[in-house]
Amino acid sequence: MKNILVAYASKSGTAKEAAEKIAAELPYTELVDLAASSDTAPAVKTPLLENYDAAIIGGGVRVGLVHNETKRFIDANKEELKTLPSAYFITNCFPESVDEIINKMLPANLKDSALFAGTLGGRLDISSLRGLDKVIAKMVSKAVDEEKPVFSELDEQAIQTLISKFS
Ligand SMILES: Cc1cc2nc3c(=O)[nH]c(=O)nc-3n(C[C@H](O)[C@H](O)[C@H](O)COP(=O)(O)O)c2cc1C
Repeated sequence: MKNILVAYASKSGTAKEAAEKIAAELPYTELVDLAASSDTAPAVKTPLLENYDAAIIGGGVRVGLVHNETKRFIDANKEELKTLPSAYFITNCFPESVDEIINKMLPANLKDSALFAGTLGGRLDISSLRGLDKVIAKMVSKAVDEEKPVFSELDEQAIQTLISKFS
């Protein structure tokens, strides 16, 4: 498979790290930071999907939603994405919320046709956060049942599963 777009938006670096790993392990990839490349038009078309044979698109999660630039890119390109082999990922911390986040991120037809749609794990280091992010992260963590597992690292196995769909 040729010319694979690996596009991500990340606030604290986890989705970026996952996207970099994916891009490094697959041939003919182009890595694009959607938060850096997007314009402010309502339909965000860059990067142009007509230049690619496949797309891997992801983003970090904040308060139950994938990064806004990831969502905007998917929404603006949903017709083109229908025609491409595609995979979608999030990086987050709470496993039980993954399905809900993915369902809000993707139209049902894109989810059904996706080669992969799921989490690649994540990290939540509250001590490294500042300001509102720190306050919200503490609130979000407290709202979670302490008995339940929480991701504290990227999920290497899930990353390899995603990569295998394009190899
Ligand atoms: C303010 C804040 C809110 C968060 N909210 C959620 C959440 O609702 N659900 C979840 O699973 N993870 C949540 N997380 C954890 C992040 O999704 C996790 O740190 C992820 O690795 C971030 O990806 P990024 O580094 O690419 O931004 C939150 C983290 C922060 C800092």
